[in-house]
Amino acid sequence: MLKQQILQIKTSAISKIEATENDSDLFNVEKKYLGKKGELTAILKQLKDLSGEERKSAGILANVTKNEIIEALKSKKAEMQRGRFDFQKEKIDVTIPGKKIKHGHLHPITIVQKEIEDIFTALGFEIADGPEVETEFYNFDALNMPKNHPARDAWDTFWLKPTNNRQQKTNNRSGKLLLRTHTSPVQVRYMQKNKPPFRIIAPGKCFRNEATDSTHEHTFYQFEALMVGDAINVGNFKYIGEQFFSRFFQKDIRIRLRPSFFPFTEPSFEFDISCTVCGGQGCRSCKNTGWLEVGGAGMVNQNVFVASGYPRNIYQGFAWGFGLERLAMMKYKIDEIRLFHGGDLRFIRQF
Ligand code: PHE
Repeated sequence: MLKQQILQIKTSAISKIEATENDSDLFNVEKKYLGKKGELTAILKQLKDLSGEERKSAGILANVTKNEIIEALKSKKAEMQRGRFDFQKEKIDVTIPGKKIKHGHLHPITIVQKEIEDIFTALGFEIADGPEVETEFYNFDALNMPKNHPARDAWDTFWLKPTNNRQQKTNNRSGKLLLRTHTSPVQVRYMQKNKPPFRIIAPGKCFRNEATDSTHEHTFYQFEALMVGDAINVGNFKYIGEQFFSRFFQKDIRIRLRPSFFPFTEPSFEFDISCTVCGGQGCRSCKNTGWLEVGGAGMVNQNVFVASGYPRNIYQGFAWGFGLERLAMMKYKIDEIRLFHGGDLRFIRQF
């Protein structure tokens, strides 16, 4: 009777083990027969109630069966392991074309800045730098615009609130902190540390608190030029300007200076170049004037030399501040300045 039962358990256990396809089914089969309340376990428990001879033979059969089931479980587990690492399925087709890795590239503003730096380095200029968070002193006072001077109104400024004592002290010493509205403060910073003659450009980010439109941004780039010596004059200035623009646009460019006003230059000019599209005849790009405006310029005001620690009326020099985006827009024929920082990849990817 008992032997019969054991043999039945054996066949059904082995066939169930063979039929299982996953770990949890296999676990359940093991539990069903060999678990604490398993069918074979129950039989093993009954053995002690049997008489001598019967107990012996049923005991042997039950234990052999138990081992056979354990073996079957083991080999099924091994088989499932192998299935998981089916090398046939895992093989790699090395002839499939690879995924293209996209390369990053420089932003159009950076490209233009590098070009400008290359041209000026070739003309013997040095590249200078200054902080984007500036003091009121460098952005205004040293540039001949004391507090309450109406000229300050031309630069809509982001003022920064002091957040600790150290900043408060700086405020007391050099005025409030602000985001620089132009690159002209670098003129003063450079002159405080260097003696003429020298020629520099200072490209960098500037900020203005103003409404944006297709030609105005709150964050934009300028590049300042400053050339100082004993006898630097407007002629030198025009020549350098002509050289730079002709190299930058790779065609002959003429320069036109119109009288203007900046507190830090005397005399001051608006700086125009002959239209890069029509060459000066007049077209839509230049509104039929033949000229394009590129920025402000002038001969350095003696008050700026004095604020930088130079004696009055010993040196002369010219300075200008041109918009980098504006030059990039002319070069690449872009009609919307907000595209530069808009984050639209369809625009950026074209460079
Ligand atoms: N800093 C002036 C501006 O941003 C431009 C400028 C620079 C004018 C140098 C004259 C000389 O408007």
